[in-house]
Amino acid sequence: MADTKGDAASRFDPTFTQNVINAMGPNTSPRMREIMGPLIQHLHDFAREVELTVDEWMEGVQLINRAGQMSDDKRNEGQLVCDVIGLESLVDEITYKKAAEASDFATQSAILGPFFREDHPIRKKGESIIYNTPDDGEVTYMYGQVLDAVTKKPLNNVSIDVWEASTNGLYEQQDDNQQDSNLRGKFYTDENGEYAFYCLRPTPYPVPFDGPAGKLLQLMDRHPYRPAHIHLIALGDGYKPITTQIFDKESKYLDNDSVFAVKDSLTVEFVPRKGNDSMARSELQYDILMAPMNSDVASGPEGGLTTNGLMTKL
Ligand code: BEZ
Ligand code: FE
Repeated sequence: MADTKGDAASRFDPTFTQNVINAMGPNTSPRMREIMGPLIQHLHDFAREVELTVDEWMEGVQLINRAGQMSDDKRNEGQLVCDVIGLESLVDEITYKKAAEASDFATQSAILGPFFREDHPIRKKGESIIYNTPDDGEVTYMYGQVLDAVTKKPLNNVSIDVWEASTNGLYEQQDDNQQDSNLRGKFYTDENGEYAFYCLRPTPYPVPFDGPAGKLLQLMDRHPYRPAHIHLIALGDGYKPITTQIFDKESKYLDNDSVFAVKDSLTVEFVPRKGNDSMARSELQYDILMAPMNSDVASGPEGGLTTNGLMTKL
């Protein structure tokens, strides 16, 4: 049988795409040109390859419009649409490629996700981030050291932002029944590089699926669940920032995270709490290895954290 798609592709105006690319004027910045040229080329090739119809294209346009209309300071549907097609995870991998290559030296990165807040309450070593302990919640004690990835020297005064969803699958800004800043905190390491806090052992939850991202998941016959995880950001003077997530190795969905963020080196083991601690049933020891800013051991965001599109609570 003839390759109808191939035949069809060759029927289209062979100069059209190059004309569109060439329309960029001389004041286009080199990086813009580098991005827009291939973007136009790939989008046109894609449309020709699948022979996209006007109706299908308009459905896509409406999906993007709905994502924009749904987005506000508490919800970033555009980011979520990117997440379910793996784009945030891919960009994370590209941006921190060196870190991925040197994964046994420095802690690997993972996507930020849309539920970070920049105003986490500062808490002392050993305090809890739990305000409302749900009946089905397991309290865990998480502790560890932050170390220089090269010298293994403990790092003092590194800030560690932590945030997680509750057992009902909701972050506090999604849930009127949770107190403000529940399950969030910012800790600083002490002179031994140590940090510690009580938190909930994380549980799997679905990403919001009542909008375009959910519709896409449904059309692709996929579930919306993420495996149990805790989000972390570590920032220390002279060190490359780390944005990451750690995943409970016993969790469901490790092999099919709806946003493709799981990395083997970021799976961790919760064990029964040692000693007499009436607060926590389990514990997790987790050390964070940071790369010196001027080393090529691993890379993080050179210019600091990207705050575009972050979801904050007013
Ligand atoms: C999260 O882990 O918080 C998350 C990541 C991507 C999409 C939605 C939620
Ligand atoms: Fe999350």
